[in-house]
Amino acid sequence: MANLTRDFFIGLSNSRFLNKSAQKWGFRFGAEKFVAGTDIDSVTRTIREMNARGISCTVDNLGEFVSEKSEAASAKQRILQMLDRIHEENLDCHISVKLTQLGLDIDRTFCLQNMEDILARAAEYGIFINIDMEDYTHFHATIEVLKTLLETYQNVGTVIQAFLRNAEAVMDELKDVRLRIVKGAYKESETAAFQSKAEIDRNYVKLVKKRLLGEAYTSIATHDHHIIRELEAFIEENQIPHSRFEFQMLYGFRQEMQYELAKKYHFTTYMPFGNDWFGYYMRRLAERPQNVNLIVKDALYTKDNKLKKEPLLTAALTASLFMLWRRKRKR
Ligand code: FDA
Repeated sequence: MANLTRDFFIGLSNSRFLNKSAQKWGFRFGAEKFVAGTDIDSVTRTIREMNARGISCTVDNLGEFVSEKSEAASAKQRILQMLDRIHEENLDCHISVKLTQLGLDIDRTFCLQNMEDILARAAEYGIFINIDMEDYTHFHATIEVLKTLLETYQNVGTVIQAFLRNAEAVMDELKDVRLRIVKGAYKESETAAFQSKAEIDRNYVKLVKKRLLGEAYTSIATHDHHIIRELEAFIEENQIPHSRFEFQMLYGFRQEMQYELAKKYHFTTYMPFGNDWFGYYMRRLAERPQNVNLIVKDALYTKDNKLKKEPLLTAALTASLFMLWRRKRKR
């Protein structure tokens, strides 16, 4: 059943039509709980608030399904502007990017050039750039682009998805590179990825422990308190220096736990911003379908809890999504 719900939201996240339409709708369905702002000014305010609480940030200029060079060029411009802003305001913040937003599906050399422009500016400011890992169809291209970039730049790293069967081998190949370890957010085939939660969790813990015993910096990115407690005990037992790792969580998730971890360790919140929120938000619902109630509440009620008269269309769409989800849940 959990898999059905997951597949349903991942299916929505992959819809080009819905992704493009959502850019015109503005924030809807409770997305603002998980998206830190619509533009550089608003996300900067949120970064300042988090920094004041001792939390670092990594910002992600939302955007997927880029098929035109002009779209990739404007995404690069926004990332460069964000780098300037981080530098000017001395924010405790780095940047996460997705290669498909920078043209990976259009032309690999063009994408590489965009990344080089970003990394050159970031290196000038001493800012780290993380390449997020997307679905498996982009995996090998992403690793190849990363390896080319590493020939010139040190301020770049990527993500290892523990659900992939080849995760450990790739992690070992990148043993000197700064890496974020996650479980994996996409739906992948049985050939490429473990399917059961138990296997994924086991591999996740194994990979993080292995990394922590090495020298390179590791970002432990999970909201799973069982795993976090186990890793905290491992860190303590093995006296892993705190300078060698950090915990990371997504903006809007487990706020209290984020504050608690930030008191003990270096902590970074992943902060997406922009109006291209649909795919990101649907993947978060896939991970935690309990958040569906946010969709319904947001579509039907105003902030002061009054029933909305408009837009009826949004409410109807929301109700259908909710009923579909409930139907699948009962099966
Ligand atoms: P998971 O969803 O497995 O939950 C495990 C348990 O934790 C739950 O059963 C529950 O008990 C508890 N729990 C989880 N969330 C909770 C909540 N909100 N409230 C209460 N309890 C909760 N993926 C990817 O493919 N490429 C990428 O580049 C990234 N990048 C990335 C960055 C960061 C900072 C994070 C945190 C995650 C990613 N991901 C990602 C997403 C990642 O792959 C994964 O899909 C999600 O983090 C969900 O897995 P978790 O390990 O967080 O817990």
